[in-house]
Amino acid sequence: MAYQTLIVEIEDYVALIRLNRPDALNALNSQLLGELADALSALDANETVRCIVLTGSEKAFAAGADIKEMSEKSFVDMFGEDFFTPETEAMLRVRKPIIAAVSGYALGGGCELAMICDFIIAADTAKFGQPEINLGVVAGIGGTQRLTRFVGKSKSMDMHLTGRFMDAAEAERSGLVSRVVPAAKLIPEAMAAARKIAEKSALTVKVVKEAVNRSYETTLREGLLYERRVFHALFATEDQKEGMSAFLEKRQPQFRDR
Ligand code: HXC
Repeated sequence: MAYQTLIVEIEDYVALIRLNRPDALNALNSQLLGELADALSALDANETVRCIVLTGSEKAFAAGADIKEMSEKSFVDMFGEDFFTPETEAMLRVRKPIIAAVSGYALGGGCELAMICDFIIAADTAKFGQPEINLGVVAGIGGTQRLTRFVGKSKSMDMHLTGRFMDAAEAERSGLVSRVVPAAKLIPEAMAAARKIAEKSALTVKVVKEAVNRSYETTLREGLLYERRVFHALFATEDQKEGMSAFLEKRQPQFRDR
């Protein structure tokens, strides 16, 4: 896959996507988000890929939406083109797990992009923030909604209203990221997590992703019912038989994704 703003590599059933606009700290412009949506959709359909890792550079995962591109736009422009909605909607349609590996700045749309992924592994250098207020705007691809669900109202208000940055330790303490690792270990650690996921039944992985995401979309009662239904349904699969037999026979399972 040839992209101008991304580098995509596939190894051992894991795709690594690097955002690649180093001169702008990976600021998200239409080209980058368009290419990212396109790459994610293609990798979702690629049978040699079972898990995706999304990362930036050492200095910046992404420093937000591209301010140069946005600054002169009018309401009519933004509303008319439904700015960044088709791209983010396409990312949400990806059924394979996406791990965000964040080093350095993840600000504004960069923080929001990390939260669109399924979980975030952070380097100890990571800095998260929603500084849109300093530009006279508000988060636009989910920040007010997702950050609030991750870290609670008080901290989310603090971040959005003051525009301050959160370091990796605070992000882990608050539940924004799943783990923090030394910067030099970020990619190896994220790739190892992705490879672990790639070893599972791809069918079960999709069900798990869907079920956890359901918890954001519905009431507890409906979510529990959904979980129970998919739990029961998985007993119709060969991979459930294989997984449980392998445990009882004290061997590694050989999943066949069916
Ligand atoms: C465009 C950006 C950029 C951005 C950095 N750059 N962030 N260009 N859009 N969001 C560019 C700078 O202009 C500069 O280009 C180069 O990247 C290096 O940045 P510096 O500022 O010189 O680096 P540094 O001093 O280390 O400061 C790093 C930083 C700062 C703290 C991350 O760049 C910063 O505050 N950036 C903006 C962060 C932000 O406000 N994000 C929210 C954007 S709004 P030149 O050409 O001068 O070398 C948003 C809305 C989302 O995300 C809604 C989505 C629809």
